[in-house]
Amino acid sequence: MTCWASVDEHAKLWLKEAGKKIIASFQTALEINTKADANDLVTNIDQQIEQYFTKEIRLTFPSHKILGEEGFGDELVNTDGVIWIIDPIDGTMNFVHQQRNFFISIGILDNGIGKLGYLYDVVHDELYYAEAGKGAYWDELKLPKLEEVPVENALIGCSATWMAPNRYMDPTNTLIPLAQDVRGTRSYGSAALEFAYVATGRLDAYISMRLSPWDFAGGKIIVEELGGIVTDLNGEKLSILQKSSILVAKPGLHAKILENYLKK
Ligand code: IPD
Ligand code: CA
Ligand code: CA
Ligand code: CA
Repeated sequence: MTCWASVDEHAKLWLKEAGKKIIASFQTALEINTKADANDLVTNIDQQIEQYFTKEIRLTFPSHKILGEEGFGDELVNTDGVIWIIDPIDGTMNFVHQQRNFFISIGILDNGIGKLGYLYDVVHDELYYAEAGKGAYWDELKLPKLEEVPVENALIGCSATWMAPNRYMDPTNTLIPLAQDVRGTRSYGSAALEFAYVATGRLDAYISMRLSPWDFAGGKIIVEELGGIVTDLNGEKLSILQKSSILVAKPGLHAKILENYLKK
């Protein structure tokens, strides 16, 4: 039997500790390397923070499994048991260039079902979290359910990259008409931040062509707890261990974007 209160308590404690380590790293020289391409950055701090979580989780909850972006977790073959999906720094480019606009993201699954979600804004020391079925919070403040908004009043998060022709979208069916119809677009460079912004109503929707499980696991649990809808760009459910396109939006708006802008 999993004691979820204990898991939650430890997750919050470790997030705060990890945040302090990241803030302390601002005083040190970063080691910056690249991964898939020259713009795909990783630093020694991304790696150290993931190692910190994996060490603590393994000591305290040895039966739990871990999926982390930087590869210090486990090779998962199924979703059995408790799985921590961790992005130690979401928005590494912002971390390197701006020392802000990056988050730590954690989603904890119980046999494949989202149970606990955490998005931690390290620089502002603000934690967004939810336990499925028990409400979502921004620090002590319980967040209200998300309400419908018409497309013309919506502010949506979307990288400019996805407006230009890109390999993930049919060039005859781009996001340009959506960008023209909504009230405004924003591009923040951290999926976790954008999920937190949808959860708090600072954004009405967020779109990405390609996210990994660690980018969306924590945010999905929080937004869904608030009645928001999270699918891929075809309106299909996400497979929690696979990369996917993402449409996260308030109820109603999600269906409108899907029907009027994404389906051909
Ligand atoms: C990235 C950020 C970014 C998104 C990328 C992600 P990372 O995560 O969330 O906003 O557009 O797809 O890879 O690499 O900074 O953890
Ligand atoms: Ca990365
Ligand atoms: Ca990420
Ligand atoms: Ca990352």
